[in-house]
Amino acid sequence: MGFQLWESRHAEQAPSEKNARRGLLVGWPVLALFVALPLVYFLVDFPVQPLLPLNFAAGGRGGVLPKVPRVERRCDVFKGRWVRDTNATYYSNATCPLIQDQQNCLKLGRPDRDFLNWRWKPDECELPRFDPVRFLELMRGKSLAFIGDSVARNHLRSLMCLLYGVLDIPDDVTPKFIPETRSRKWYFPEYNFTLARFWAPFLVKASNTDSLSKSYRADLRLDEPDESWAREIEKFDFVILSAGHWFFRSLTFYEEGRLVGCSACWRSDVPNLTRHYGYRKAFQTAYRTLLKLEGYKGVTILRTFSPEHFENGSWNNGGRCLRTRPYTEAEIKLNGSNLEMHTTQMEEFRAAGREAAKRGLKFRLLDMTEAMLLRPDGHPNLYWHSRHVNTTSSDCLHWCLPGPVDTWNELLLHVLISESV
Ligand SMILES: *[C@@H]1O[C@H](CO)[C@@H](O)[C@H](O)[C@H]1NC(C)=O
Ligand SMILES: *[C@@H]1O[C@H](CO)[C@@H](O)[C@H](O)[C@H]1NC(C)=O
Ligand SMILES: *[C@@H]1O[C@H](CO)[C@@H](O)[C@H](O)[C@H]1NC(C)=O
Ligand SMILES: *[C@@H]1O[C@H](CO)[C@@H](O)[C@H](O)[C@H]1NC(C)=O
Ligand SMILES: *[C@@H]1O[C@H](CO)[C@@H](O)[C@H](O)[C@H]1NC(C)=O
Ligand SMILES: *[C@@H]1O[C@H](CO)[C@@H](O)[C@H](O)[C@H]1NC(C)=O
Ligand SMILES: *[C@@H]1O[C@H](CO)[C@@H](O)[C@H](O)[C@H]1NC(C)=O
Repeated sequence: MGFQLWESRHAEQAPSEKNARRGLLVGWPVLALFVALPLVYFLVDFPVQPLLPLNFAAGGRGGVLPKVPRVERRCDVFKGRWVRDTNATYYSNATCPLIQDQQNCLKLGRPDRDFLNWRWKPDECELPRFDPVRFLELMRGKSLAFIGDSVARNHLRSLMCLLYGVLDIPDDVTPKFIPETRSRKWYFPEYNFTLARFWAPFLVKASNTDSLSKSYRADLRLDEPDESWAREIEKFDFVILSAGHWFFRSLTFYEEGRLVGCSACWRSDVPNLTRHYGYRKAFQTAYRTLLKLEGYKGVTILRTFSPEHFENGSWNNGGRCLRTRPYTEAEIKLNGSNLEMHTTQMEEFRAAGREAAKRGLKFRLLDMTEAMLLRPDGHPNLYWHSRHVNTTSSDCLHWCLPGPVDTWNELLLHVLISESV
């Protein structure tokens, strides 16, 4: 059960299996009660979630749980499609001053606006709009950390814009955090809420990384967490982990201090390993680090791989993303490296989640991969720099703000509400 709860997206079952499962609960009422009670408790009170009703008492003919009048079944919110909604945006470049220029597509002259007119519609329920007050009430006295790369920052900036208006962010949120790294921390006194972003594009310790040079390489200590987050994370209540695009670089892997291989490195003297080898180990190390911290009581949330949409080339040789509407599910399939990245991280998430459950820790999922695969229209393309910057390269990896990345926070709130029951 616990497994099923944190694994919603990938624990999809055929209806017959669902019935069989319910039958199982009916068949062993005592066991069912024991197993189902925490689940029921977890599910009953979703005031903002219009989910499909499922009457447990009726389903369990013997009246196993007569005190529960109506229980709403969990909806797999990550399975769905984008539907037109001309009222889907929450803010604009004019109303949110916290958008970084690289994602400020409207300000930088993106001419088409249709990418703003879509809302995520889970197949089995409606996703409520983001409610900043609800979010902040859940965060009262708590702390939330994003660990990852610039896509995590993109996610965080969306969250800040969604909260802006409720909170006077520029006055009250003071960046004052680990100056030697690219990590930041903000404090919201009205809610005693701490928000942090830890810059750790590989999750693990990396050296010889130069994001400014064209070498696009890095040496990774696959068994050592990046200290930027590892030394700070213990007290956080919610930790959103993500990683991905940096693993496409030319990487050299070290374990126990020894060179073990490399990926995309074209070296004949070193074993040729895949990027997935490093990606898997990095997540293993991140999860192991969290689970080892005695004081860590946080909810760990994996935000899954966010696909890019370069067409006709890659980021450095003229690739573009010119589409102006979402794909339908029939038009694109999760395949190739997107699928491999996703599969790898899901496998490690499941394995670590089982360990976490033994420790009474919660692992939850923000499985954005398929939803974002459908949004080739959501990237800045050329509108990530002002026109006087002399470059013709496109950004088909980050997401415009406002834009489809705001949905990540609608879903984050959904996950947090589930935790608050
Ligand atoms: C748009 O959404 C806002 C916020 O949910 C709501 O107050 C408003 O009535 C909506 N407008 C329309 C035209 O649906
Ligand atoms: C917002 O973007 C529009 C163009 O879409 C621009 O005219 C306006 O000056 C921008 N406002 C701010 C505050 O960036
Ligand atoms: C703020 O929250 C922390 C827990 O994160 C708590 O220890 C502290 O007492 C709270 N402070 C106030 C002023 O409520
Ligand atoms: C390393 O493996 C990759 C993927 O399997 C392959 O494309 C590449 O040619 C290999 N490189 C070397 C030097 O063997
Ligand atoms: C891809 O490049 C070709 C040749 O440069 C061009 O004709 C075509 O329109 C491009 N397609 C897209 C989707 O950019
Ligand atoms: C993935 O699917 C797309 C169509 O959605 C296809 O164009 C592409 O070639 C496929 N890539 C791989 C690696 O199978
Ligand atoms: C922009 O870069 C191109 C190629 O690097 C160069 O030929 C051109 O002169 C540059 N233009 C400006 C305005 O700097």
